[in-house]
Amino acid sequence: MASVDDVKIIALPKFLDARGNLSFAEQNSHIPFEIKRTYWIYDVPGGEDRGGHAFKENQEVVIALSGAFDVIVDDGENRKAFTLNRSYYGLYVPAGLWRSMENFSTNSFALEFGSVAYSVDDYIREYDDFLKLKKNGKI
Ligand code: TYD
Repeated sequence: MASVDDVKIIALPKFLDARGNLSFAEQNSHIPFEIKRTYWIYDVPGGEDRGGHAFKENQEVVIALSGAFDVIVDDGENRKAFTLNRSYYGLYVPAGLWRSMENFSTNSFALEFGSVAYSVDDYIREYDDFLKLKKNGKI
C-alpha cells in the first residue's frame, strides 16, 4: 500500500559542460523499474492542470525537462506537493496514489517514464473510486 512517503526525488547524473549540459536516465537503475512507456506533455497553456488520476499498476518517474510544474500526490490520507523545475531531477511516484500536475509554466515540458504499457483499465479517474479502493486495501 503506497503512501505519499514513498514518493521520492531522484537525482539524475549530470555532466556540466561549457558546450551545454547533459543528463541521462537508465531503466532498473536511476529509473527503479523496467520502462514500458515514455510519454511527454507539452504546449500546456500557462497555469493549466493535468493528470488528476491514479494508476493501479503503473509506477512512474516524472521529469520537468523544461519549465516548471507541481506534482501533487495523495494517498487518501495525506497529500504532498513537489515542484519540479530542473531537468536533472526525477520524481518517482509508485502505483496506487492519486496524482495531479498543476501550475504548468509557459513552455514547460514534462517527460514521464512508466512501468506499464498504456491501458485504459489501469486508470482510476474518479477520486471517490480511488478512495474506496484505497480504504478497502485494493490498491
Ligand atoms: P490523459 O491520461 O487524459 O492525460 P493526463 O494524464 O494529463 O490527464 O491522456 C490524454 C489522452 O492520451 C487520452 O485520450 C489517452 C491518451 N494516452 C495514450 O493513448 N497513451 C498514453 O500513454 C497516455 C499517457 C495517454
